[in-house]
Amino acid sequence: MKNYEELSRKHFNQQAPLYDKRDTVYYSREGKISCRDIAEYLRDKTWHSLLDVGCGTGWMIDMLRKERLADYHGLDLAENMIEVAVSKNIPDAQFVVGKADVLPYEDGRFDVVTCSQSFHHYPDQDKAVAEAYRVLSKGGLYILSDTGVGGLGAWIDNHILFKLSSGGDCRTQNRKSIAKRMEKAGFEVIDCTQLQGFIYRVVGRK
Ligand SMILES: C[S@@+](CC[C@H](N)C(=O)[O-])C[C@H]1O[C@@H](n2cnc3c(N)ncnc32)[C@H](O)[C@@H]1O
Repeated sequence: MKNYEELSRKHFNQQAPLYDKRDTVYYSREGKISCRDIAEYLRDKTWHSLLDVGCGTGWMIDMLRKERLADYHGLDLAENMIEVAVSKNIPDAQFVVGKADVLPYEDGRFDVVTCSQSFHHYPDQDKAVAEAYRVLSKGGLYILSDTGVGGLGAWIDNHILFKLSSGGDCRTQNRKSIAKRMEKAGFEVIDCTQLQGFIYRVVGRK
């Protein structure tokens, strides 16, 4: 079996210097749509700490920090992505290299966990959802935005996308299957919205 994590890491290490400077289907238009939507969703909510899993270059945290003072953390598999994020010197933000399915934070640490256009790269998706659940405080929100069946972005990085154990691959995921995964992990799904095109947002409350 291919080592999908390693393929993702190499791919995004190469993309890092230009990733958020472009605004095309081949990065990072879909990411920006998801990040802006998440920011909008969070605008009228009460929260003080946020972890962005698969944060890439820290684009969303940078945007959120301009609107709100909070305790920000970003984690990503690709060290070059994290290097770009750190180079932005975003106040109150800490970035670490790590994996979505082994989060280096204590239980109940965050009010919000976000995941934008990253989930379809995770070889162990159930574990990633379980980890988000673990690090959230009671009542905390897990906001997952990704591209489902037919999304151009998903087709483009086809070579690094894993096959699901249930058959198919990430392109067979949609907001409903994500909502089921969240419920299985213990979340109450409070939002399940199709956004622009194939992009969706699912929100679970712990
Ligand atoms: C398409 S980019 C999205 C970046 C950013 N969240 C955005 O919306 O623009 C996917 C990111 O997920 C990261 N990633 C892939 N697999 C990961 C894993 N297992 N754990 C953590 N991050 C991962 C990649 O390194 C990459 O930075």
